[in-house]
Amino acid sequence: ALRRSGNLHWQSLLVDRASRARIKGHRGRCLWLTGLSGAGKSAIADAVEAQLNLRGVHTYLLDGDNVRHGLNRDLGFTAADRVENIRRVAEVARLMVDAGLVVLVSFISPFRAEREMARELFGPGEFLEIFVDTPLAVAESRDPKGLYAKARAGKLPNFTGIDSPYEAPKHAELRLDTSRQSVAECAREVLDLLD
Ligand code: PPS
Repeated sequence: ALRRSGNLHWQSLLVDRASRARIKGHRGRCLWLTGLSGAGKSAIADAVEAQLNLRGVHTYLLDGDNVRHGLNRDLGFTAADRVENIRRVAEVARLMVDAGLVVLVSFISPFRAEREMARELFGPGEFLEIFVDTPLAVAESRDPKGLYAKARAGKLPNFTGIDSPYEAPKHAELRLDTSRQSVAECAREVLDLLD
């Protein structure tokens, strides 16, 4: 059957996500980590992915810093560019979940509306929002890339938490705080959520 949208048609295919899931032995999922720069999103995603990989789960980690070197290298950090950044990565994650992967998305994703848009691309229970909720002062004191210092000195405009907003999730499936919990503890909570 063809579904119409203007002159575009949606092609139904013989192999669907259920048949792909049978081969893998698990369903696809999107674990969406959101939080300030330096909150610990990438470290937690990395630890979770390592554990899943050991269990034979087919995963993929989409990380802001990396995706911005390729697919999204045309985008900067204005509000409009962040919206487009998240739109693209959400669509990529959706394709990967459709392919049967457990996808970890590690982007600041500062705007509630875009995270909700991402959620709506997925089926019930497929999208799990994980708020890496670390106080700005803690993230800033870590400053692994020296970006907060640059932002405070006025050399890096539109920096999240300084002169660009971060809208905290209201209905995240999980909230973590790396100022109180170790990366290993946070990873354990994410894995428990997935089980
Ligand atoms: S967003 O808001 O979701 O589009 O951002 P994201 O794609 O996750 O990219 C965040 C990483 O880019 C670096 N960086 C900045 N972050 C925030 N604001 C500004 N202006 C900025 N400029 C560069 C920064 O290293 C972020 O990496 P993480 O891993 O989050 O620290």
